[in-house]
Amino acid sequence: MFYTVIGTQWGDEGKGKIVDWLSSKADVVVRFQGGNNAGHTLKIKEKIFKLNLLPSGIIRGKQCIIGNGVILDPWALEEEIQILKKQGIVINSKNLQIAENICLILPLHIILDEINEKNRGEEKLGTTKKGIGPAYEDKIGRRAIRLCDLSDEKLLRKKITNLISFHSVRLIHFDKKINEADLINKLLKVFNKISQYLAPTWKILNDYGKKEKIILFEGAQGALLDIDFGTYPFVTSSNTSSGQIFAGTGFGIKDNHQVFGITKAYTTRVGSGPFPSELFDEIGNYLVVKGKEFGTVTKRKRRCGWFDTILVKQTVQINGVSNIILTKLDVLDELNEIKICVGYKIDNSNYDYLPFNENLQQRILPIYKIIPGWKSSTFGITEWSDLPKNAQNYINYIEEVIKTKISIISTGPERSQTIDRNNILSNI
Ligand code: IMP
Repeated sequence: MFYTVIGTQWGDEGKGKIVDWLSSKADVVVRFQGGNNAGHTLKIKEKIFKLNLLPSGIIRGKQCIIGNGVILDPWALEEEIQILKKQGIVINSKNLQIAENICLILPLHIILDEINEKNRGEEKLGTTKKGIGPAYEDKIGRRAIRLCDLSDEKLLRKKITNLISFHSVRLIHFDKKINEADLINKLLKVFNKISQYLAPTWKILNDYGKKEKIILFEGAQGALLDIDFGTYPFVTSSNTSSGQIFAGTGFGIKDNHQVFGITKAYTTRVGSGPFPSELFDEIGNYLVVKGKEFGTVTKRKRRCGWFDTILVKQTVQINGVSNIILTKLDVLDELNEIKICVGYKIDNSNYDYLPFNENLQQRILPIYKIIPGWKSSTFGITEWSDLPKNAQNYINYIEEVIKTKISIISTGPERSQTIDRNNILSNI
């Protein structure tokens, strides 16, 4: 059986806990897009683990694969491995494999990310400044350095010269210099440390598929940050949607594949871009504080707003989500009333989807359904029947509108604090 976990909003839906749970049942855990712009925090028996690049299964000693769709900062990877090793996690060439054809983030890309953001002024995207966008641009431009290039010094030198030459006009314009020899030395040095993980991962993965192993594909960011289907241009530079697992790993399409959509009980986003149900009042601030809504990677305060069924209904379809896993319900516990966005009005027309036109997106007026709050704690509840009636109504109403089962409800950071409504998790 094959499972994919994706966030159905703008990321930070609380994928960490669920991915960890599913990881414990999986044989293989795979990343297929994004890079160290992602941040997962796992809490296991009072120990906190922070992951950016490595699949969460690494903490559980599972077979982990970083697919070719990921963009790899080799120094960030090496640092993450060292930190986890110090925390007692075993990482070696037996349990971690990285695609030979994965493209690299170089210091040059981090500089370009900074320059691009500065240049955009008021219209900046609010990137994580990890070099993600510029590195993916080089991949698509067919001039990127791939991990396998590091084993061939002659080829590497040639490719680095070409790459720096390509970017030279901008670098000179912004008074930035890249020392070519120094960069090559650093790359060769880091390659010494990580070359053991290099492998034809597409092949390994398909072999696991044939053996009917349980494979978990771990999405990063969220569906609304997808380069094609997100709120472009305020998106990340990869396809965050479930369709990317095939191109981002080389694993062939199979029938027995289920997609879980991790969905926060309200909405958040970091960085710029449209957010129709955003709150600018004291309730918005309350959600920031109660939900501890600060970015894992950049520590930025997240923007908060009401649940938006228009967006989730859309991402559920695009990603083939079969079951929703609702997180952070307890953050809403103390509210008198709760709004749910059920439609958009733009210039007197009603929309039941998010139009791509940026100007239209800016003029969206959300249409709300108001539901009474439950005013009691849902924290840690493990049975559906123990949820307050109004909390059940809230979930049932969303389920009905988005036409997808909300099968699992997370009521706290611990694995035990979960309602497995349809016994989906327990049956894996
Ligand atoms: P980039 O991925 O660093 O290029 O940033 C592009 C946009 O995606 C910015 O709005 C970021 O805040 C957002 N973003 C990137 N990674 C994450 C994530 O893991 N969670 C939430 N937002 C993210």
